[in-house]
Order: sequence, then C-alpha cells, then structure tokens
Amino acid sequence: MNIVDELGRPLRDLRLSVIDRCNFRCTYCMPREIFDADYPFMPSSERLSFEQLSKIARAFASLGVEKIRITGGEPLLRRGIELLIERLAAITTVSGKPMEIALTTNGSLLAAKARSLRDAGLGRVTVSLDAVDDTVFRRMSDTDIPVARILGGIEAACAAGLAPVKVNAVIERGVNESQILPLVRLFKGTGVSLRFIEYMDVGGASEWSNAKVFTAQQAREVIESEFPLVAIAGRDCSDTAVNYRHTEGTGEVGFIASVSAPFCGSCSRARVSADGQLYTCLFSTRGTNLLPWLSDTASVEQLADAVRSRWTRRDDRYSELRRTHRERRPQKVYPTVRMSLVGG
Ligand code: GTP
Ligand code: 5AD
Ligand code: SF4
Ligand code: SF4
Repeated sequence: MNIVDELGRPLRDLRLSVIDRCNFRCTYCMPREIFDADYPFMPSSERLSFEQLSKIARAFASLGVEKIRITGGEPLLRRGIELLIERLAAITTVSGKPMEIALTTNGSLLAAKARSLRDAGLGRVTVSLDAVDDTVFRRMSDTDIPVARILGGIEAACAAGLAPVKVNAVIERGVNESQILPLVRLFKGTGVSLRFIEYMDVGGASEWSNAKVFTAQQAREVIESEFPLVAIAGRDCSDTAVNYRHTEGTGEVGFIASVSAPFCGSCSRARVSADGQLYTCLFSTRGTNLLPWLSDTASVEQLADAVRSRWTRRDDRYSELRRTHRERRPQKVYPTVRMSLVGG
C-alpha cells in the first residue's frame, strides 16, 4: 500500500546507511579536527545485521518504496556488502517490479569490487569526485589517495555495466570551482553523468557559510563559457538534479541546487542509519528508533506499521525553510544529524 505524508508526499526512496565510518575526511562532511581518533563512531556491535537491514527493506517495499540507495559513511567499507545486495535485489516492489538498487561511494575501493557488486545485483553507482587535480582533490577530501584511483573505480563500474554511472561533485567557493570545467571536459562523451552539488549546511559541515555556496546557476555559467547546454525536459518529480545535455556531442550535466532551489515539495526519501534509526529529513534533529521492530518477535508488517505511522506525520521541509529564513538566520543554530550517519 502506498502512503503519503502530511504534505501529500509519497514514500518512494529508501537511503539505507550500512556504516558511519569513512576512509576520507572531506572537509564539508567529516572534518578531521572533529572526526579524529577519539570520535565516538558507532561500535560495529550496534550495526544492524544484513538480516535486519533486509527486513527494513521489505517493510519499506510494502509501503511503496521502489528504489533503495545504499550509503555510509563509505558503504564499501562494510564487509560482505555483496551479500546484503543479493538480499535487497531479490525484493519485489508493490507494483511487481524488481527493487532498484543503487549505491553512493567515494570510489576508492570500487575498482576491485565493481564486478562482484554487479554480480550480486547492484544496478547503479554514484561516485563522489570533487576535483581532477590531485592537490585540489586532497584539499577537499583530506586523503592521500590519488584521483587516478577514483577514475579507475569509475572505469571499472562502467565496464561492469553499473550504468548509468553518475559522478557527484560538491563545489565549495574558493576551494574547487577551478575544477568545474576540467570535470566537464573529462566526462563529456563518456556516458558518465556528472552532477554539481551545492555545498549544504548538513550536520558535520562545521565550516559551512552561505558565502561558500557556489550556486548551480553560477556553475552552469562557468560550463556554458565553454560548452553550450540545453535543459532536458521531463524531470522526474522526485529527482534531486535538474539535468542538461551538451548541444555538441553527447553527455549530460546535472545540478543539485538544494540551497538555492530546494526540492522539498517532492521529497519522497526516507533515511535509515546503520543502527536502525529512521530519519524523515537529511536535516532531522532526531530519528525514530526502529530497533523494537527489528527483533525476531516482530513481523515485517509490524515494522511497516511503525514506519507508516511516522511517515504519515512527516512535515519536514528544512531546505525550503532555510531559504525563507536566510536573512534572519544566516547560520544554523541547532544541531542536525550528521551526514555520515544518514548517508546524504
Ligand atoms: P539518484 O538516484 O542518482 O538521482 O541519486 P540521488 O541524487 O538521490 O543521491 P546521491 O547520493 O547521488 O546524492 C546527491 C546529492 O544530493 C548529495 O549531496 C545528497 O546529500 C543530496 N541529496 C539527496 N537527497 C536529498 C534530499 O532529500 N535533500 C537534500 N537537501 N539533499 C539531498
Ligand atoms: N554539501 C553537499 N553535499 C555533500 N555531500 C557530503 N557532504 C555534503 C555537503 N556538506 C555529498 C557527498 C556525496 C553525497 C552523498 O553527499 O559528496 O556525493
Ligand atoms: Fe566520506 Fe563521502 Fe563524507 Fe567524503 S562525503 S567524508 S567520502 S562519507
Ligand atoms: Fe527532503 Fe529534508 Fe532535503 Fe527537503 S531538506 S528535500 S524535506 S531531505
């Protein structure tokens, strides 16, 4: 049965986080000063088992979810992730179709795993890559891993048929806007769909300020100085990106403008953290504990009832409210859940 929230939005997508750790320390997500050796990450004993994660997926499927995106932290750090993907890919949606399974990764472990992920039933991957230049990449991601390794992961994903492969680039003013054109040049005509993301004030982005946001429109102007673009009509209403295509040659570029043009009105995404908390917004201050329904004594139907009761009371629209209140409240004053716990 399909359900809608208080603002009439259906539940269509589940973002399932499998681990809250990452081998990168992107300054806009897990700055090293905060996410250091003493940071209280979730103990592995508190991570949900694959059995519990697939129970969650079946409950969400019964409520109308058609796509599950596996997230982290870095989801490829979770041992045996292919076994989870096998279970999720076997789920059928209410409309009788196979569940669509996607995964968002930093790409560092992808070259070795692309084939086994595909064989397990993964449909698509999205790889985060904020720069082509190694120095800029290191500055953004705070890792010694070279860009070439991420590019190897993207190539392996394409070769394994995890298509269409998407690449996400967060643009932070003063740090990596120089990389917009090199990224476009690199992926134009390769079949990889490149998307530019506005820097958001998510939990963990402790250095965020409005002045550091390089807007989608500004990014588009930079690209159009070299590559003419035309808008692609027919945006799926639950899409995060507005997409354009190159007029010369092939290829697409998308823009995720969650700061300058929020898309809360069509937001159909639920998030579950690796310890079983349900978050109805990327900017939630607290989650709903699903653990009582994840024991062997509770059925999938009972778990689905708990999710339904929360979703039908949902009225989140943080990004729209942020835009309205920006003049009065330029900086966020309350803590929201950290990005690395809910997977973006
Ligand atoms: P597709 O299924 O390929 O369209 O992926 P996606 O855009 O849903 O997910 P992805 O993991 O690639 O996320 C892209 C960017 O959009 C990330 O920066 C996310 O944090 C951001 N994003 C995704 N969903 C939401 C959302 O509901 N609200 C906001 N504000 N940002 C979101
Ligand atoms: N603003 C925008 N996007 C972010 N991501 C992580 N932190 C932020 C932020 N502060 C992106 C990652 C990844 C996706 C899941 O979320 O780069 O592509
Ligand atoms: Fe890791 Fe992704 Fe966060 Fe970067 S954005 S620290 S790769 S989880
Ligand atoms: Fe959805 Fe919250 Fe993002 Fe708005 S801010 S699009 S409600 S997750």
